[in-house]
Amino acid sequence: MPAGSIISRPLFRRETNAPLRAKETEVNTMRRPLVAGNWKMNGDLQLVMQVEECLAEAELGHLDVVICPPFPYLSSFTSDDIAIGGQNLSQYESGAHTGEVSGKMLKAVGCDYVIIGHSERRADNFETNALVADKVERALADELTPLLCVGEPLEIREAGELFEFIAAQLDAVIEHIGIQDMAKLVIAYEPVWAIGTGKTATGEQAQEVHKFIREHLAKRDAGIAENMQILYGGSVKASNAAELFAQPDVDGGLIGGASLSPQDFLGICQAAK
Ligand code: 13P
Repeated sequence: MPAGSIISRPLFRRETNAPLRAKETEVNTMRRPLVAGNWKMNGDLQLVMQVEECLAEAELGHLDVVICPPFPYLSSFTSDDIAIGGQNLSQYESGAHTGEVSGKMLKAVGCDYVIIGHSERRADNFETNALVADKVERALADELTPLLCVGEPLEIREAGELFEFIAAQLDAVIEHIGIQDMAKLVIAYEPVWAIGTGKTATGEQAQEVHKFIREHLAKRDAGIAENMQILYGGSVKASNAAELFAQPDVDGGLIGGASLSPQDFLGICQAAK
């Protein structure tokens, strides 16, 4: 389909009204899989259409599918089967913050989710654990589900400081918003050394950290820990997704490069349990 025909598409997708996940403290082991595509600063309007068309033909009712394209493409998504999310939001509600995008703006163009604390933003934009916690609070105030990213650089893993590092990233948020509101988040474990490098964590490595994250939450609230969707991100491909998603504490993926190919992204979605 020619790219120009996109212009005739509706300007705004459906009103977003997906409820934030309820605060739940009872234990429910039936976690729904979630696969999210993080396009980063890639893609175009044609890719929006290609992804929508590709996924429309598939049976994906058993999982949540989310696409996080660059801001300018958000309102070009029209499918009710795909939720959309921002890749970032401002910690402020509104005001003189040139270049920033607020949670309310994301909500207004149909977002249900927003990625917060991605390692690329932590590195490129100096986002600290404290700022990430502020952004999570802001997203919740604007009724967006934060996809909170945590993950260690290689030197931290090699120094044997992996678990302290992840715990500190989590605790900054838990202490800021309180454990009960953690029920409204999705967590993504993204080892920095596996992002965009082609080096994927093995199923065993992913499971070890996912289990740690769940146990860390369980120290404060077992029900919230059990219900938390914990995604793995870092060089997930259609060829390795099944092994990763088969791990008991891996509830889906946050997909970078492979989400730019509709067929590959579909293959990853189909691999979700
Ligand atoms: P890749 O899948 O390209 O490694 O990126 C992962 C990621 O950063 C998703 O947020």
